[in-house]
Amino acid sequence: MRVLGIESSCDETGVALYDSERGLLAHQLYSQVKMHAEFGGVVPELASRDHIRTLLPLIQETFAEAELPLGQVDGVAFTAGPGLIGALMVGAATARSLAFGWGVPALGVHHMEGHLLAPMLETNPPAYPFVALLVSGGHTLLVDVKAPGAYSILGESLDDAAGEAFDKTAKMMGLPYPGGPLLSQIAEQGRTGVFRFPRPMIDRPGMDFSFSGLKTSVRLQIAKHSVDGVVPDATRADIACAFQEAVVETLAVKCRRALQHTGYRRLVIAGGVSANKQLRLGLAKMAEKERSELFFPRPEFCTDNGAMIAYAGWLRLRAGQGSDLSLDIRPRWPL
Ligand code: KG4
Ligand code: ZN
Repeated sequence: MRVLGIESSCDETGVALYDSERGLLAHQLYSQVKMHAEFGGVVPELASRDHIRTLLPLIQETFAEAELPLGQVDGVAFTAGPGLIGALMVGAATARSLAFGWGVPALGVHHMEGHLLAPMLETNPPAYPFVALLVSGGHTLLVDVKAPGAYSILGESLDDAAGEAFDKTAKMMGLPYPGGPLLSQIAEQGRTGVFRFPRPMIDRPGMDFSFSGLKTSVRLQIAKHSVDGVVPDATRADIACAFQEAVVETLAVKCRRALQHTGYRRLVIAGGVSANKQLRLGLAKMAEKERSELFFPRPEFCTDNGAMIAYAGWLRLRAGQGSDLSLDIRPRWPL
């Protein structure tokens, strides 16, 4: 079985072909990040228009990369939500039209399920069941994954998502959009122990997260150490380092709880923030102590991509699912 996957929920246009026998055949990604950087964040209307401009050529390129004639698939998967409504509609309309023309089912996929399954595309995928920590720009979720499609939420962020906290903190530090990856680069030059920020909610029971208080603590330190409205580079790096440490430790504590709660020995991290080096190191250390294994996607599949949608779509197709021709996208959609 072969599935075309289309991701267009935010500012990346991703297309991929997944084959159940041969694995991932091809994938293409176009990032709109430069276009939105000028505005300091994603402009939804511009995102939709750019998906329209880039999607069909990317689909052509993906089939060419796989050396397949256009349309040689058994299904077309697309991100049906959550995400920006206009951007989702571009992917949904394109996927449904192609599926209709090619006489195959269209498969609406939950974006976070895509992230959750991304490590399945690696050479050493986790066996079920496992705990998944999904850390992206819009969500922070701890999930009990019993089997494909059998998910229960163990914890979630009560305010900002982890990626959002990175991006907002980066903005406060004067870093350009998207700040998360830049902040983590700067943090590598910082010294540990110069600043220490609170680890939100770790002394409370449960597996929920909260990052807005941490952001406020950072804001206060930035204000305190600014000279003429600017933080000196070395201090900025020390603050970035302490912020990153606080986020990593908070996430590690909750992941440890989730492993102990479920009794599972496998932890998956996925979503944009799972590309963070210190997070991977921190979680690997914790997992080792818990005699558990850590799994994560290759860096390019941590952030949004079409490959995870093609894979999730294939699982849906294998389970005999498909959608009718209505355009039922869900900008807000719990996992
Ligand atoms: O999964 P993703 O591409 O999009 C959403 O579904 O939201 O995640 C994007 C988020 C952004 O907030 C970005 O700043 C963050 O992931 N991110 C990182 C890193 N790389 C991406 N945050 C911290 N460290 C990184 N290396
Ligand atoms: Zn995402």
